[in-house]
Amino acid sequence: MQLTDEEQRILQGESGEAERIAMRVLTKLGEANGADRMIPVVSAHLVGCSYQIAGEAGIQIYTQLVEQGAKVKVPTTLDPGSIDFRKWEEFRIPSDYAKRQFLIANLLEKMGVIPTWTCTPYYLLNIPHFGEDVAWSESSAVAFINSVIGSRTNRMSAYLDLCAAIIGKVPRFGLHLPENRRGEILLEIEPDLAAKFDDVHFPPLGYFMGEIAEDKIPVISGLRSATFDQLKFLSAAAASTGSVALYHIVGITPEAQTLKMVFGKRRPVRTWRIGLKEIEETIDRMSTFRGGKVDAVAVGCPHASVSQMQRYAHLLKDQNISVGVEFWVCTNEIVETISRKMGYCQGIEKAGGKILVGTCHNDCPLGAWKFNSLVTDSGKFAYYTPTTVGSKCFYTSLSRCVQAAIEGKI
Ligand code: F3S
Repeated sequence: MQLTDEEQRILQGESGEAERIAMRVLTKLGEANGADRMIPVVSAHLVGCSYQIAGEAGIQIYTQLVEQGAKVKVPTTLDPGSIDFRKWEEFRIPSDYAKRQFLIANLLEKMGVIPTWTCTPYYLLNIPHFGEDVAWSESSAVAFINSVIGSRTNRMSAYLDLCAAIIGKVPRFGLHLPENRRGEILLEIEPDLAAKFDDVHFPPLGYFMGEIAEDKIPVISGLRSATFDQLKFLSAAAASTGSVALYHIVGITPEAQTLKMVFGKRRPVRTWRIGLKEIEETIDRMSTFRGGKVDAVAVGCPHASVSQMQRYAHLLKDQNISVGVEFWVCTNEIVETISRKMGYCQGIEKAGGKILVGTCHNDCPLGAWKFNSLVTDSGKFAYYTPTTVGSKCFYTSLSRCVQAAIEGKI
């Protein structure tokens, strides 16, 4: 890798130990991946901020970096933590655990990060533009900003993302290079399915895409439209069942206005036709129980937008959540604040729901709740919940999630 004089000086420790370590890590990453040089990034998003991911090793690393004077050089936001910072007791988080999460928050804030605590930073204080290079972790957000916005990031991981934030650069390889962003496989949505493609179909489409994509970049054709929230669900599911960091939808995402634009002179190496049968079979695979009593309903994965909060409140109007069922909405502080001003949070809470802020079911320790069966409208929750929450999971539409919460069964 060719380093500039300034980068060489950082590597020799002239800017302090924290920057020396960060530059050394990034240089090794670049060498391992055939990068030719470093490029500047306009922002970073960190995933190693939850105690669940960072653990005691993370606390040690962050403590050392703070002592060495580490500061982030670009706007840097944070993924969800492992607790709701205001209501952790209500959510039965052990106090020792909460204290460790508060310590991580304190250390990261000393390095200058923006405490967004969300997997949807692209709603708020970290909105990259088309073509901009960034250094992001959080698989769902990486897939979203690469695909829907056309920003450029590899799927970073905990600590690599922080090294990039401290230096303000990443090695140039992978999805930072336009030639590596071309489509490779094609998923053709059959016209009958495309005509009725709805909210409930986006997570299974993403789930299926992640399962079959391997290391290839998928292109979806045949869809007529997709909302911001639908694309968020699609991105999260695809990045959970597979390593999808970039996909294209012809006529919808910015690098895929036509098939020719996205494939160039190449032909897809493989084509799948997706009809209702494939979607229904995927929905079937997404659930690990077939119905019965429900302990918990989980929505807001990825973190809910204001329009989703409005929808939850609308569906719960004049309803009561069944005794013994926990209906939790995951979101971030800014969406919660605005939704409270709009009266949506009060609507959800009046029906018996809870708003979980700055974290989610998969990031908190929920052992004290002993959930056995959980219903969700999220492909990512459906994929991870059996492992992280330890409960059986049922994937369905939002309206059926709400109905399950009201009836206590599905
Ligand atoms: Fe976000 Fe948690 Fe889902 S981090 S994407 S709400 S699993």
